[in-house]
Amino acid sequence: MSTLPHRAVLTGATGGIGRAIARSLAPSCEWLVVCSRDGAALAALRNELGAGRVHAVQGDLTDDATLARVAAQVAELGAPNLLINNAGMGDFHAFESQDAARIRALLATNLLAPILLTQRLLPLLRQAPVAQIVNVGSLFGYIGYPGFAAYAASKSGLRGFTQALRRELADTPIAVRHFIPRATRTAINSAAVDALNDEMGTPVDAPEDAAAQLLRFLAGSAWERKPGVKEALLVLLNHALPGLPDKAIRGQLPGIRKHMPK
Ligand SMILES: NC(=O)c1ccc[n+]([C@@H]2O[C@H](COP(=O)([O-])OP(=O)(O)OC[C@H]3O[C@@H](n4cnc5c(N)ncnc54)[C@H](OP(=O)(O)O)[C@@H]3O)[C@@H](O)[C@H]2O)c1
Repeated sequence: MSTLPHRAVLTGATGGIGRAIARSLAPSCEWLVVCSRDGAALAALRNELGAGRVHAVQGDLTDDATLARVAAQVAELGAPNLLINNAGMGDFHAFESQDAARIRALLATNLLAPILLTQRLLPLLRQAPVAQIVNVGSLFGYIGYPGFAAYAASKSGLRGFTQALRRELADTPIAVRHFIPRATRTAINSAAVDALNDEMGTPVDAPEDAAAQLLRFLAGSAWERKPGVKEALLVLLNHALPGLPDKAIRGQLPGIRKHMPK
């Protein structure tokens, strides 16, 4: 679906995938609001992409005050037609000994922040003739994987939120969509995750590939995008015959445990 020119809000814009999205999206934006906690990185991004067009809001999205500042900045610019909830964090860890503060942060960052930011921006998105909300999920939101229990909870929650809100807004011009990158070479993946991906032979994309896929997704109309045919089949299999992936992943456990922080 086309929302060109974009009047866009992008969270996690200083991260690996977010920065690549900002770079490829900015030329088709009338204005772009970028958010992250890193003020210096945001300033550099604004300089690079054009301070006239790009506006930065620095702050922690798990903080209500930051959400209010994002909404105020957007209201000043007008009606947005694109919100990309991309900010996120990971924590590959054995669940039993995972730090409770990290679990809270995972759910606050990956699930609660996009939900509450969406709620804040909805009245403004409604003012655009057509708009889209794109939530950046993960394959682990479909397929539970050892070492990612809390992350999977956050991303499957985001998937459920996306689908329910999409249906709630089906009679409005606001599309609510779900974009899933493949494993991508960024800072969200610790050295242990990189080692796990190597061990499992998981293909890892460059951030620019993920951004290019997201731009193609924005122009299309599917409500969600899985990374590829193989991943789409895995999701189907996991849903229809979960015993099969249970068995396959059980076989991978010794290799996973070798890298999983305890
Ligand atoms: N890379 C992958 O393999 C992969 C695969 C599937 C899905 N994803 C998803 O893709 C999205 C982007 O991830 P990435 O790989 O680009 O990770 P990244 O390089 O670590 O970037 C994460 C971004 O989120 C921001 N962020 C994190 N916590 C925040 C908070 N509390 N408040 C405000 N901003 C916050 C970070 O900015 P600051 O730290 O500067 O605030 C950064 O800009 C995430 O939702 C992730 O779950 C990634």
